[in-house]
Amino acid sequence: MPKHDARKGAASARKSAAKTTTGPAHTAAAKTASASTRAAAARPAATAAPLTRAKLIAALNDDLAKEFQALIQYVQHAAVITGPQYDAIRAELAIHSNEEHAHAISLSEQIDFLGGTPGVEVATVHISDIAKTMLEQDLEGELDAIARYKARIAQAEQLQEYGLRRALEDILMVEEEHARDLQNALDL
Ligand SMILES: [Fe+2]
Ligand SMILES: [Fe+2]
Repeated sequence: MPKHDARKGAASARKSAAKTTTGPAHTAAAKTASASTRAAAARPAATAAPLTRAKLIAALNDDLAKEFQALIQYVQHAAVITGPQYDAIRAELAIHSNEEHAHAISLSEQIDFLGGTPGVEVATVHISDIAKTMLEQDLEGELDAIARYKARIAQAEQLQEYGLRRALEDILMVEEEHARDLQNALDL
């Protein structure tokens, strides 16, 4: 084979090698990128800014606004819910309202103790003309509260605020009872 043909042959071999590796290499890179994106999404806590006392106080004030909401919502629902099948839960709703009041007092004391100012905001109250919808609104609030207080307990632990953790655990137990009462009334 003449020299220039040999060079041509080698160049063509390199080209075709490049061609065959470009596809899979590109796909592998894309796969790696998508895997690392998924990994980042799976561990937001690791990349999030560190928890501070100020952030915890702000989160507790959000919880407090939702306790005021729940208190008002239960007062309204207990007064207007009708239907013989709701007699038992009507009395429970009034009890829940008192317990949400107690939670608001506990959270306010904890916020003050941490050096914050307890807020007076009220989250959006949900009402309805339909009894079942009222109970579903109440249950949605309780399930949200359970998830929030579990997160808050972990945060209190992280900042070694053990008194706060204890207060939050007491609230969480009551929210779990509230959710069960509503699930029973809704036959869930
Ligand atoms: Fe509560
Ligand atoms: Fe509750």
